[in-house]
Amino acid sequence: MSALVTRLRDRIASRTARTGVVGLGYVGLPLAVELARSGFHTTGIDLDERKVASIMAGVSYIPDVRSADVQQFREAGRLDATTDFAVVADLDTVNICVPTPLRKTKDPDMSFIVAAVESIAKQVRPGMLVLLESTTYPGTTEEVVQPLLEAGGLVAGKDFFLAFSPERVDPGNPTFQTHNVPKVVGGITPDCTALASALYGAAIETIVPVSSTRVAEMVKLLENTFRAVNIGLVNELAMMCDRMNIDVWEVVEAAKTKPFGFMAFYPGPGLGGHCIPVDPFYLSWKARQSGFEPRFIELAGHINGAMPHAVVDKVAEALNARRKALNGSSILIAGVAYKRDIDDLRESPALDVMGLLHAKGARLSYIDPYIPSIEARSWPGKYAITSAPADTRAFGQYDCVVIVTDHRSFDYQAMVDSADLIVDTRNAIKIAAPNVFRLGAPRPESVTAPAV
Ligand SMILES: NC(=O)c1ccc[n+]([C@@H]2O[C@H](COP(=O)([O-])OP(=O)(O)OC[C@H]3O[C@@H](n4cnc5c(N)ncnc54)[C@H](O)[C@@H]3O)[C@@H](O)[C@H]2O)c1
Repeated sequence: MSALVTRLRDRIASRTARTGVVGLGYVGLPLAVELARSGFHTTGIDLDERKVASIMAGVSYIPDVRSADVQQFREAGRLDATTDFAVVADLDTVNICVPTPLRKTKDPDMSFIVAAVESIAKQVRPGMLVLLESTTYPGTTEEVVQPLLEAGGLVAGKDFFLAFSPERVDPGNPTFQTHNVPKVVGGITPDCTALASALYGAAIETIVPVSSTRVAEMVKLLENTFRAVNIGLVNELAMMCDRMNIDVWEVVEAAKTKPFGFMAFYPGPGLGGHCIPVDPFYLSWKARQSGFEPRFIELAGHINGAMPHAVVDKVAEALNARRKALNGSSILIAGVAYKRDIDDLRESPALDVMGLLHAKGARLSYIDPYIPSIEARSWPGKYAITSAPADTRAFGQYDCVVIVTDHRSFDYQAMVDSADLIVDTRNAIKIAAPNVFRLGAPRPESVTAPAV
């Protein structure tokens, strides 16, 4: 074992290693806090001055991270933040947690990773451990990150250490958070894997070493593609059930009683967030470069991408039962975050649903306790819009309320009692009611006969 390996291993074991996290978003801030909690001095680096100022002031801006923790580790002198990459020179380990979006063409946008790695490369020194956590295509660590870090002459695996470890955080999940979600780790050499495992092992309960960075990269894409494909399957089943007058929600609830060989996925208005709608396309892009055409990913993408249209069809059908048209109807979108109980609007299907309704002439409002406003540039309607007041009696003023995100704080009973029409895309309203149209379920009794 080289002296550099022994030195870093000992510094990790004694918690004297100085750790750093680049990119302090939904992934990076929880990780930085866990590293601080496990006893390391941790420095967060982000280009966003507001995030840095917030951490320095002891205030968290990520719902899963408590401000009390940020404050405690700030006061203990174990957590700080900066916009200046010069601090990397003093670090023993650096985790990279920057965004990996898609370009409009659905090609990977590697610009954030490249920019972050170039900034780190200027400060890389012997004995340092660099870990990439951003979700990306298999090969990124070796093909993109390694050459950039080696540009100054140091050799990865010998002079410094390099590993990939996919982040699996599930924002808003009260049970599984950074510290208790098993961490898959693959280094470019066995020493890299061992050092990365030692670092994560200090903060995270279970470490799963794998044989290479490529395997670790592929693990994450399998997980997210698995979700995208299964959601695509159940969305297609929902459309089928809709046509066949069967309640897909009841079907899934009953199927899930099978104690083996089945895992429940639920239909909905479409995919959202930074991961599931994006990551499978990283894989299909890379697979195509190897001459392999991935069919499941594309098919699931088509089905899931069509769900906002299915929602709009359902709203038109519901309004039709009242002899109303989409054009000119006032519609309240209940919930715009991409999933329940979180404040993240990225890739939210609500934005697509709103854009389609707007294009058909609907007059739109929305209500979401987590998203106070939507900027004009964030949705196809291209005007700024703010969340309606949380007055449940007001549901009756709209022609239709569309539940797109089933936040727990919504008063669904009040919605049923006061709204004229409801389209429920999440089965949030579990009771049969004459004014509720559910996605993938039979129409309410009251509208099965044509009105005269
Ligand atoms: N959000 C999730 O649920 C989730 C879950 C698993 C994996 N991931 C993956 O983790 C990665 C990060 O996602 P996120 O949700 O935390 O993103 P985010 O947008 O919340 O945070 C990224 C942060 O990186 C900062 N940043 C961008 N470029 C930078 C640079 N060059 N130097 C320093 N900071 C920079 C941004 O200012 C931002 O604060 C992505 O690859 C994502 O796919 C996200």
